[in-house]
Amino acid sequence: MPTSSLPFSRHDFGADFVWGAATAAYQIEGAHQTDGRGASIWDTFTHDNRWRRFRDHGDVACEFYQRYESDLILLKSMGFRAFRFSLSWSRILPDGTGRVNEPGLAFYDRLIDTCLAMGIEPWVTLYHWDLPQAFEAKGGWTNRAVIRWFSEFVECCTKAFGHKVKNWMVLNEPLVFTAGGYFAGIHAPGRRGLWNFLPAVHHAVICQGEGGRIIRRNVPNARIGTTLFCAPVEPHTQSIRDVRAAARIDALGNRLFIEPSLGLGYPVQEAPLLKQILTKYANLGDLQRAVFDFDFIGLQNYFRLVVRHDWFTPYVWAREVKPRQREVSEITAMDWEVYPEGIYQVIRQFSAYENVKEIIITENGSAFPDHVHNGRVDDAQRVAFYQNYLRQVLRAKQEGFRVGGYFAWSLMDNFEWAEGYRPRFGLVYVDYPTQRRIVKQSGEWFRELLTR
Ligand code: NOJ
Repeated sequence: MPTSSLPFSRHDFGADFVWGAATAAYQIEGAHQTDGRGASIWDTFTHDNRWRRFRDHGDVACEFYQRYESDLILLKSMGFRAFRFSLSWSRILPDGTGRVNEPGLAFYDRLIDTCLAMGIEPWVTLYHWDLPQAFEAKGGWTNRAVIRWFSEFVECCTKAFGHKVKNWMVLNEPLVFTAGGYFAGIHAPGRRGLWNFLPAVHHAVICQGEGGRIIRRNVPNARIGTTLFCAPVEPHTQSIRDVRAAARIDALGNRLFIEPSLGLGYPVQEAPLLKQILTKYANLGDLQRAVFDFDFIGLQNYFRLVVRHDWFTPYVWAREVKPRQREVSEITAMDWEVYPEGIYQVIRQFSAYENVKEIIITENGSAFPDHVHNGRVDDAQRVAFYQNYLRQVLRAKQEGFRVGGYFAWSLMDNFEWAEGYRPRFGLVYVDYPTQRRIVKQSGEWFRELLTR
């Protein structure tokens, strides 16, 4: 591959900068019924005939449960020294609470030990969307009891691994699992409506704070964060209606989970529908429980949003002007606009909060159609994507914003939720029928960047 043209070196980011690749349990592990794992809402959702779109599921996925050692060798060969993965709640507590499944804990213990033995720092996400199915009949995230259920899970994980794992993330993109799973119904558990969405949001907001406190108590010297979806939001025109629509989407998309954690409450001014949380679902003291002094905020940026006012979209009164309608120059296999400057913009936006101490990019990456030719995957578009986004991360760093690390999404191709296996986000290509791995050109690009 052409390697002479690296526009920056890893030294430009500083010696302490964390370089990693990210994954999530349900997207890679497979082994859905192995060693006593209980079902999660994603197992049920992907096997439910009502969701006909879903011919794909995570039963086998990348067989990471069996292949983790060789996959970590690949990660290390690309120069990464940090690995972000999540713990499957129902592998550890098959019924969600109560009985601990020792073989489940033992799997993560092996995984963590293997990381440490290889000089790879484990970065653990506690919740990456796979709620135990046992809770669904009780309302899942809409039930306030989820705060107690989640606290028990966090206690269990931090007691088991806190002596080995120092980097913890409480939730992964709570906006996406609440909006996708409880408002739009396109993610598990497929619920819809504001009356599901708003309580789910509120309980997730409290769990962020409670989870942080439990980690702090149980893990000496922990570095604690939570990871958030974020996208710069721009109005389609400068009309007052579009500008207000953009402010509303910014409040719901970017501010909804961080502001309560900083003690700023919900952004009700720009998004008045959130007032219902306070009148219908909040108890006295909840907003205090939501607050936690995170060591870092994990930002996950892929694209920007351009929005316009829309009378036909209830509650939010806004809709996205899709990249295809805007004739943007490059679109990924997810139909997302490639917009490198956006990552700089969200770093700036989130750095403006007084109590955000450090930002870590806990996900960034792209899906493009990959093809294997003579045993190689030449994904030049993905190489350019990483190069251009990282250049913007570096720009933010050089301007003095505290960005402490960068995780590529993803280590390997995997189960992309509602989109199944079609979009490939990996630095490593996975041939699903044979489970053969091929490091893509983008993986080689990272090797060049990180090992020279
Ligand atoms: C966000 C999610 O955390 C991850 O699970 C997903 O695969 C990527 N972004 C890409 O959509």
